[in-house]
Amino acid sequence: MAIIKLPGLADVHTHLRVPGGEHKEDFFTGSAAALAGGVTTVLAMPNTTPPLTTPAVLAETLQKAQQSIICDVGLFAGASPDQIDLLPQLAPQTVALKIYLNDTFGPLRVEDLPTLQACFETWPRQKLIAMHAEGPNVAIGIGLAASYRRPVHFCHISRRDEIELIAAAKAAGLPVTCEVTPHHLFLTRADADRLGPWADMRPRLATPGDAEALWAHINTTIDCVATDHAPHTRAEKESATPPPGVAGLETSLPLMLTAVKEGRLSLARLIELMATNPRRIYGLPEQPDTFIEVDDQTPFTLTNEALLTKCGWTPFAGWEVVGRVQRVVLRGKEVFATGRVIAQPGSGHIIQ
Ligand code: NCD
Ligand code: ZN
Repeated sequence: MAIIKLPGLADVHTHLRVPGGEHKEDFFTGSAAALAGGVTTVLAMPNTTPPLTTPAVLAETLQKAQQSIICDVGLFAGASPDQIDLLPQLAPQTVALKIYLNDTFGPLRVEDLPTLQACFETWPRQKLIAMHAEGPNVAIGIGLAASYRRPVHFCHISRRDEIELIAAAKAAGLPVTCEVTPHHLFLTRADADRLGPWADMRPRLATPGDAEALWAHINTTIDCVATDHAPHTRAEKESATPPPGVAGLETSLPLMLTAVKEGRLSLARLIELMATNPRRIYGLPEQPDTFIEVDDQTPFTLTNEALLTKCGWTPFAGWEVVGRVQRVVLRGKEVFATGRVIAQPGSGHIIQ
């Protein structure tokens, strides 16, 4: 067994489901899954029920988070056409603004130009704007970044044409960044056909050529690996109308370290993608005396049973990987060791 020491990871795209989706995940189980995956900072998306678009929902969410979190958590504000005037009130206690240009789980959506303009005009310049943009909507996001001369971060880029457009925008000097998910790196449409609702998410799994293109840009255009941890219960996935989304917090590091072992990227690049870059792009605070210890040599099998996420399943069950997280130390305190959570609920910090 060989143990390596890495910085605490930062996952800038998770769904912790509070308020309104606590049967899928809550702040304790979601942050426990984070620690189990070596992640000490997570950013939580605003497509909750109700969505995080008002000061009242923000206050309720902050209060619940502070009672339960065991890693550090930052919240996204959500953009909704009928509540754009509230954005300046949400900014001081949120990390960034999320704009959904494409359909996904939940009702949050922005489809008109005046609302997009209002977002870029009212959201404080020192805080980031992140977008769910697929296909031609990536061009809209790039156009807004250029027009308003301010950074835009693209969530879960999944296709060749999209990553190539972002590469061109970067080459032109535009302030754009992007993340990819492990499921878009490691799974394709063939897996979606095999697994049905268990591998249905937005953006949908793409072709082998798309996944290859993501790997081809892993050392250049891609800034971050983020999980889009989107837990839904088994009953929901087995229903007539399964919601899109899969869990990812506990499988991301093992999958990526397995790719390192196979020579697909370097360990130094993994650290940039999963710790340094996400922290820089979102301006996340340093966590002093914080590190993780990981076994990067001994193979093990990912299973549903071992997961701490409340949903209890992963599309990667049965995969043989390396990269089991042995120990997590956050601000000098051991918070996770040998598969067990040690931290007390509420010991994580809220990031603003
Ligand atoms: C996410 C969810 O379930 O909240 N689902 C998904 O398929 N990715 C929503 C999202 O991130 O788009
Ligand atoms: Zn998401």
